[in-house]
Amino acid sequence: MNNKSPGKINGDFKGKDIISLDQFTPKDIKILFSKVPQMRTIALKAKPSEIIAGKIVVLLFYEPSSRTFGSFSTAVKQLGGQTVEILNPQQFSSVVKGETFEDTIRTFEAYCDAIVLRHPEVGSAEKAAKIAKFVPVINAGDGIGEHPTQALSDLYTIEEKFKTLNNLHVVFFGELAHYRSVNSLAKLLAMFKGIKMSFVSPPQVGLNPNIREYLQKKKVKIRELHDLDEVIGDADVLSVSRVKKEFMSEALYRKIQGKYVVGKKILSKMKPNSIIMHPLPRVGEILPEVDDDPRAVYLTTQIRNGTYVRMALIAFVLGGIR
Ligand code: NCD
Repeated sequence: MNNKSPGKINGDFKGKDIISLDQFTPKDIKILFSKVPQMRTIALKAKPSEIIAGKIVVLLFYEPSSRTFGSFSTAVKQLGGQTVEILNPQQFSSVVKGETFEDTIRTFEAYCDAIVLRHPEVGSAEKAAKIAKFVPVINAGDGIGEHPTQALSDLYTIEEKFKTLNNLHVVFFGELAHYRSVNSLAKLLAMFKGIKMSFVSPPQVGLNPNIREYLQKKKVKIRELHDLDEVIGDADVLSVSRVKKEFMSEALYRKIQGKYVVGKKILSKMKPNSIIMHPLPRVGEILPEVDDDPRAVYLTTQIRNGTYVRMALIAFVLGGIR
């Protein structure tokens, strides 16, 4: 909403746009996470709740999505609300006829109580939040910028496993330069004490310089390297990422794709009490042979927590819980 975008959460989510992790403090995260078990219970019940009964959420997705779209859609329905789902508006809405982004946002806000937006341009969610006068906008991924709800749910998965967010060593592995989930999760982790982060990538696609600067300012211990072997034995979390083909040249893609792969050999070097995460989709960077290892959470709790955390967030933003 244009008068308070993107305001600090400051313990009160109601009516706020959710654009960036910069809006959050550890206290806000604690408040959000405190409701997640309740959301899980609701989701596992046969009937949805009525927490946001009568509310309509528009899911406006300019980019493809499986989990973010699926979990937002599920989350709204589990809370008793309804969705209007506009997938690929470039093809299926008046955007085809030349409608501006401004007019599209103004139109859809007239139908709903909140807009969830995924868009290929950095800053698009913030822009939409400024345009929407009456309803909050939730960022479901803005280009190579941020993906706050993915990071929040990934952080929840980490906390659930280790019962703390302090003193952990998180290793990010893969193509990092264009990976918004890495940007967002790194920003979140930076809020917690004693966190170590290692960024392991092919040399052409290292950490986004804005995030490097952000972490350096916060005096977070970071290492940037190209060889996973140097850090894997000490990792609590291995967070793997896909080569974001859609955000790079074909030549660069061909240089990187297939150059890093997590298989049983890497797994054997990891601590027994560690986890392997991936926001998905994966396209070969984690082999199926890893899937059944108890440390692999990317096809199980990581996906499920995505729904529960988004449920808690929507319930707060729409005033269904306090
Ligand atoms: C990611 C995304 O779209 O940012 N997936 C997700 O939302 N769970 C990762 C990706 O596209 O590779």
